[in-house]
Amino acid sequence: MIEKPAAAGGTPVRDRKLYYSHQYIDEADIQAVVDVLHSDYLTTGPHITSCEKKLCEVTGAKYAVLCANGTAALHIAAMAAGLHEGDELITTPITFAASANCARYVGATPVFADIDPDTYNIDPASIKAHITDKTKAVVAVDFGGQSVDEDAILALKEKYGFVYIEDGAHVIGTSYKGRPNGSIADMTTLSFHAVKTITGGEGGAVVTNSEEYYEKLLLYRTHGITRDPALMEHTPDGPWYYEQVALAPNYRITDLQAALIESQLNKLPQFAARKKAIVAKMDAAFQALPGLKIQKETEGSDTVRHLYILQLDPEHISIDRAQFFDAMAKENIICNVHYIPVYWFPYYEKLGYKRGLCPNAEYYYEHSLTIPMYYAMTDQDVDDVITAVTKIASYYGR
Ligand SMILES: Cc1ncc(COP(=O)(O)O)c(C=O)c1O
Repeated sequence: MIEKPAAAGGTPVRDRKLYYSHQYIDEADIQAVVDVLHSDYLTTGPHITSCEKKLCEVTGAKYAVLCANGTAALHIAAMAAGLHEGDELITTPITFAASANCARYVGATPVFADIDPDTYNIDPASIKAHITDKTKAVVAVDFGGQSVDEDAILALKEKYGFVYIEDGAHVIGTSYKGRPNGSIADMTTLSFHAVKTITGGEGGAVVTNSEEYYEKLLLYRTHGITRDPALMEHTPDGPWYYEQVALAPNYRITDLQAALIESQLNKLPQFAARKKAIVAKMDAAFQALPGLKIQKETEGSDTVRHLYILQLDPEHISIDRAQFFDAMAKENIICNVHYIPVYWFPYYEKLGYKRGLCPNAEYYYEHSLTIPMYYAMTDQDVDDVITAVTKIASYYGR
C-alpha cells in the first residue's frame, strides 16, 4: 500500500523542519577566525595570500584573486575582459541574476542562450546561434555544480574569439575530463556565500591562468589603485605613494573571511565525498519513481553537486510544482526553486526582454524544484527527504 503524504492527510515524515541548505562549521573553522581576531590584520593580511594559494591548488589555476562575493568576482571579471557599452555577453537565464547583471554593470548587453533540457546547463548550440559581431564574452554557469560542456564552449571560443568567463559559483570541487573547473576558462568566478559548498559567510574569487587578467583583477578589486611602480604613470615621491589608474569599487574581503574559507577548503575532499554519496543514494531512490526526472550528468563531469534538482513530468504526476513544493513543506521539508529565468525579472522586462526567449529554460523553471542536499545533513535527514519524495511521487504519480 502507498503511504499517504501529509498533504493528503497522512503523518509528516518528520516533526522538525529541514531546510534546503545549511553550512557546516567545525571547531577548526571557528579557531581560524578567532586567531585572526587576535592578530594584527583584520583585512588584506596574510590569509588573503594563503587562501589564494590554496584556491590555486584546488582549482589548478595559476592565479587567484579573492574578493567580496561572487557578484563582485563577476563584475571585476567583466571589467578585466574589457566589456563596454555596445558589447554583448551571452549567458544562461537559469542562474542567479548576477551572471547577467555583470554585463549591465559595465554597460554591456546580456544575451540569453537556452539551456539543455536534460543537464540544465547552457546549450552550446544555443550559444552559437546567438553569436554576433558584438559578442565579447560568454558567461557559462556550472548549474548545480556540474560542469558545463567545456569542450563545446572552448571550440566556440576558438572559432569566434570571445572571452570565456565560467561562473563557477556552484562548481568548487568538480572536474571536467580530469581538469578541475577553474583551470579551463579564461577566468572562473567562485562564490563563498553561506549556502555554498565552501563558505566564508560571504566571499568570492576569480581564478585564472592569465597574468594579464590577474593584474587587472588585482587593480579592479580595490578602487583601480595600484602600489606597483611598474603600473604607475608618475614617479613615486615616497614609500607612501600609490596611484589610482582606473575607476573600480572596493571589493576587498576581510582576513576573517579568508581564514574561514581557507579552513573550509581543507575539508573539501570530505565535503565532496559525502555529497557524492548523498547524490548517489537520492539518484538511486528517485530514478524509478513516476513523474520525476533527475538532472543528467554532463559527459566528462566528475561532479560535486551544490544543488539537487527534481523536475516533474506533468504526464506522469497529477500535481504541479507548487503543489509538490507544498506537499514537501507539509512533510516539514522546505524546498527552494533555482532559478526564475533572469529575463522574467521586471528590471529586464523594462529593458525589452520578452517571455518566450528560451523555451527550455522556461519549461525547466515551471516544473523544477530544489530539495535539501548538503554536507551537514545526517543520514536520517537524507532518509527523510527520500521517504517524503517517494511518498508524494508514489501517491500522486500516474
Ligand atoms: C550562479 C551564481 N552566480 C553568481 C552568484 C553570486 O554570488 P554571491 O552571492 O557570492 O554574490 C551566485 C550566488 O548566489 C550564483 O549562484
